[in-house]
Amino acid sequence: FRTKFLTVGIDGGAATGKSSTSRRVAAIYKLLHVDTGSHYRALAAGLIAAGVSPESQEAIESYTQKLALDTVIESGSAHIVVDGVRPADEDLRSDAVNANVSKFAAVPAVREALRDYQRSQRELAHQKAFDGLIVEGRDIGSVIFPDADLLFFLEADEATRAKRRAAEGQQDAVAERDKMDATRKTAPLTCPQNAERIDTGSNSLEEVVALIGSRIDAKRIKV
Ligand code: DC
Repeated sequence: FRTKFLTVGIDGGAATGKSSTSRRVAAIYKLLHVDTGSHYRALAAGLIAAGVSPESQEAIESYTQKLALDTVIESGSAHIVVDGVRPADEDLRSDAVNANVSKFAAVPAVREALRDYQRSQRELAHQKAFDGLIVEGRDIGSVIFPDADLLFFLEADEATRAKRRAAEGQQDAVAERDKMDATRKTAPLTCPQNAERIDTGSNSLEEVVALIGSRIDAKRIKV
């Protein structure tokens, strides 16, 4: 008996519980956890450090063309390594990154630079003997893994998201970031057609994890 290798995509706006949910499901089902938001944050941090503004298309392109991207896996999560350096979590969540990541993420050159890298995480999960991968982001179902075995779209009311944000010490204007992410031309945040919507405001983390878990179990039983 071999467990079917599963690709699970989790899309949704900021502070909808994607990370907590994905991490929990990853640990239970031996899936590699991939947070694509951290990839955009890593590139935004690098671009900011290099003094590149989100408006300077050419400078962004020359930065992304020279990038060497790699991955380290720690406690079941994949972490991006940019030109040999793994950015610290504080750097990925700095105020400057929070304020600018959506602008950089709207630039096609930035998305192109990450697309193949993100897709390559599936081979990595396979190689490292995970039973699949769970990938969180904004365009997993629409662009990165439209062929995923399971797709979910997490949503929550504004009050819940504000509470979550405060608990995480994140003060940035998440609603504004969402608006930018949802209205950009390239790969906007949207609920993929074949995704199951989950309300993480009225359901607890345990309930959301149990629901996703039941869908994973159902997929695996069919093998
Ligand atoms: O999930 P997060 O808040 O860490 O994501 C940071 C930003 O990265 C978010 O504002 C939009 C962008 N992003 C994206 O455009 N596409 C993804 N797949 C993931 C994140």
